Amino acid sequence: MAKKLRKAVFPVAGLGSRFLPATKASPKEMLTIVDKPIIQYAVEEAAAAGITDMIFITGRNKRSIEDHFDKAYELEAELEAKGKQALLDLVRSVLPAGCRCIYIRQPEPLGLGHAVLCAQPAIDDEPFAVLLADDIIHAETPVMAQMARRFNAENSTLLGVEEVPREQTSNYGIVKVEQPEAVSTRVLEIVEKPAPKDAPSTLAVVGRYILTPAIFEMLAAVKPGRGGEIQLTDAIAALLARERVLAERLSGRRYDCGSKLGFLEASVEFGLRHSEVGAQFGAYLRRLRETSG
Ligand code: G1P
Repeated sequence: MAKKLRKAVFPVAGLGSRFLPATKASPKEMLTIVDKPIIQYAVEEAAAAGITDMIFITGRNKRSIEDHFDKAYELEAELEAKGKQALLDLVRSVLPAGCRCIYIRQPEPLGLGHAVLCAQPAIDDEPFAVLLADDIIHAETPVMAQMARRFNAENSTLLGVEEVPREQTSNYGIVKVEQPEAVSTRVLEIVEKPAPKDAPSTLAVVGRYILTPAIFEMLAAVKPGRGGEIQLTDAIAALLARERVLAERLSGRRYDCGSKLGFLEASVEFGLRHSEVGAQFGAYLRRLRETSG
C-alpha cells in the first residue's frame, strides 16, 4: 500500500542574487506578489494537496521566513484589542490550518540536490514533494494536487513538466519521455540545463517534484555536476536505472518569479485577479495603455 503524501520540502537557502539589492538583507522568498510573499503561494499549494509537514531548507538571513509562518503574539493581541477581526483571521491563516513547519539549515550552498539531501532526517521512509517557490503556477486545480492525484494512482517518482522554447533549455532540467504527447508518461532521460542544440527535447522540469526516499541514496552518491553543485537532476538520472520515473504535464500558467520579468508578469496578473484591487488596477492599466499608445 502506497504511503500518503504528507511532507513537502522547500529549498529556500539561495542567495537571490538576481534580485539584488532587494535581497541584500531579506530573503527572495519573502518578495511579495501583490500582498503575499512568494513562499506563501508555494505553502498554500502544498496544503491544497493535503500536505501537512512543511520542511524548509534554510540558510543565513532567512529568519523572516520562520517569523512569517510563526504565531505573531503582539500583532495578534493588538489586532484583537482593536477589533480588527478580518486582519486577525488573515494573519492567523498564513500557515494553513493543520500544518506544521520544520526548519533545517543548509550550511553551504552546494546545490538543489544537496538541499534536498539535507531534508532526509525529517523525511524517513516516505514519499515527499519538493516545491521551488520561484515557480508560481496559477491553476484551477493547484498543480501539486494534480501531481498528488497521479502519485496516489501510480506510486512512482513524478516530475512536473512543461514545454519551453528551445532557446531556453539551458535554464532547466530537460526530459526525454516515452510518449511526448501524453499528459503522464515515462521519463527515459533527464539532463540538467543542456544547450539548445544538445537538448533531448523541449520538455522542461518546472519546480515541482514528488520523490520517493530512494532519491537519498542517489543524492549521497552523485558527484558535483553543472556549476560544481550537487544536482537533483543528476540524482534523478541515476534513479532512472532503478525505478520508474514519470513526467506529468502540468496544466496552469507558470510565472518564473526567479526572473525580474516573470516576477513583474506575476505581479500584474495576480494584481488583476485580486479581489480588493483587481478592478481598479485593470482600469488603471487600460488608461495607461491609452495615454502611452
Ligand atoms: C532548478 C533545477 C532545474 C529545474 C528548475 C525549475 O534550477 O536544477 O532542473 O528545471 O529548477 O525551475 P534553478 O532554476 O534553481 O537554477
